[in-house]
Amino acid sequence: MLDGKKILMIIGGGIAAYKSLDLIRQLRAQGALVTVILTGAASRFISPLSVASLSGQKVHSELFSDNAEAEIGHIALSRSADLVLVVPMTADLMAKTAQGHADDLASTVLLASDKPIMAAPSMNARMWEHPSTQRNLSLLKSDGVLIVGPEIGNTACGEHGRGRLAEISEITHSIIMYFGAHDVASAPECSLSGKSVLITAGPTYEPIDTVRYIANRSSGKQGYAIADAARLAGAQVTLISGPTTLTPPAGVNIIRVETAEQMYNEVIKSLPADIFVACAAVADWRVEAPVLGKVKKSKDGPPKLKLIENPDILASVGKHRSRPKLVVGFAAETENVVLNAKEKIKKKGCDIIIANDVSVTSGVMGGDENAVHVVGKTAVDSWPKIPKDLVAERLIKLFAKMLRREEK
Ligand SMILES: Cc1cc2nc3c(=O)[nH]c(=O)nc-3n(C[C@H](O)[C@H](O)[C@H](O)COP(=O)(O)O)c2cc1C
Repeated sequence: MLDGKKILMIIGGGIAAYKSLDLIRQLRAQGALVTVILTGAASRFISPLSVASLSGQKVHSELFSDNAEAEIGHIALSRSADLVLVVPMTADLMAKTAQGHADDLASTVLLASDKPIMAAPSMNARMWEHPSTQRNLSLLKSDGVLIVGPEIGNTACGEHGRGRLAEISEITHSIIMYFGAHDVASAPECSLSGKSVLITAGPTYEPIDTVRYIANRSSGKQGYAIADAARLAGAQVTLISGPTTLTPPAGVNIIRVETAEQMYNEVIKSLPADIFVACAAVADWRVEAPVLGKVKKSKDGPPKLKLIENPDILASVGKHRSRPKLVVGFAAETENVVLNAKEKIKKKGCDIIIANDVSVTSGVMGGDENAVHVVGKTAVDSWPKIPKDLVAERLIKLFAKMLRREEK
């Protein structure tokens, strides 16, 4: 599945470095060519000899190497790769990469790289939770670094928490998906060129009075990622977004709304479209009569809120006279995820439901990863937990395929 893909793998000096040996083996078994840079600290954990034997390639670790620098080796290394992979990404390497340091071969290659970077961090849970590491994580993500893991579990230092390296099988899967999505994006059969895609994203705010509202925890990240992936596939994209802090992808027509009713109106106005993706977490109910001004505390106790139902955007599009050829719903459930999604497909008149578990422990709402079940009319495909942008790319590939089938 990775035939001929060139992966430049940087191994950082963490206790999980030994696991990267298995990763090299797995990537090579998939047909990838793996070249390795070992940081100075990493070579204290695993031997360059083991890495050279498993990768079948010379191992690089020196920035100031007379031989390699005759060909400007630190630049050449990343130029000849399709993907730069950092496993394990140490807290130190995260900080250096986020700040643009270049004082050894690994950090210099990361700074000089013009290739996509995927990193799997691993460290003690307190190191991971530290505000500095979290700041660096945000910087890396906003610089476009794809992050896999870390997971919650017991770490080698005997503590429990988030910091364990993602499973090697999951890292391999993310790499396969990454290449799959990119090969697909450039493959003509996955193009959405000339197609229009209408997407909703984010939460809605339902006012109680002028200053208060009822909302939910949706961040909009998955919907924005789908908008970006659809645009990359060549579609004309309209993104109708509830309140979020996200920057909309370039080249996307963004319409901002607050309430479910506003979102409904904008969606109906934006039809027709070839594909509709209802990813927003739309409030089911709103306050019947929001108060103008701020409701004051009173001796009669709290105000009694009367809730009424909001319009059902997905069901309305599903039966609209300008119904898109492909109508995709998202289902956020905390229990019986797949069963409820199957019911929803029937009730809403859509073609497919992307179901995810949004219980507190799943970390999906507001998080950067998603584990979805793609529920069709007859079959269910459950995907592992992967970054939301990879979910988006994979979904767009699927939608393009389904649309072509509809158009035949
Ligand atoms: C026994 C031991 C285990 C370590 N494990 C980790 C780890 O799992 N993650 C991490 O970020 N740093 C870990 N460190 C600290 C790094 O080795 C240290 O920050 C080093 O400078 C990282 O260098 P590098 O980022 O260039 O690889 C560990 C250090 C020791 C001595």
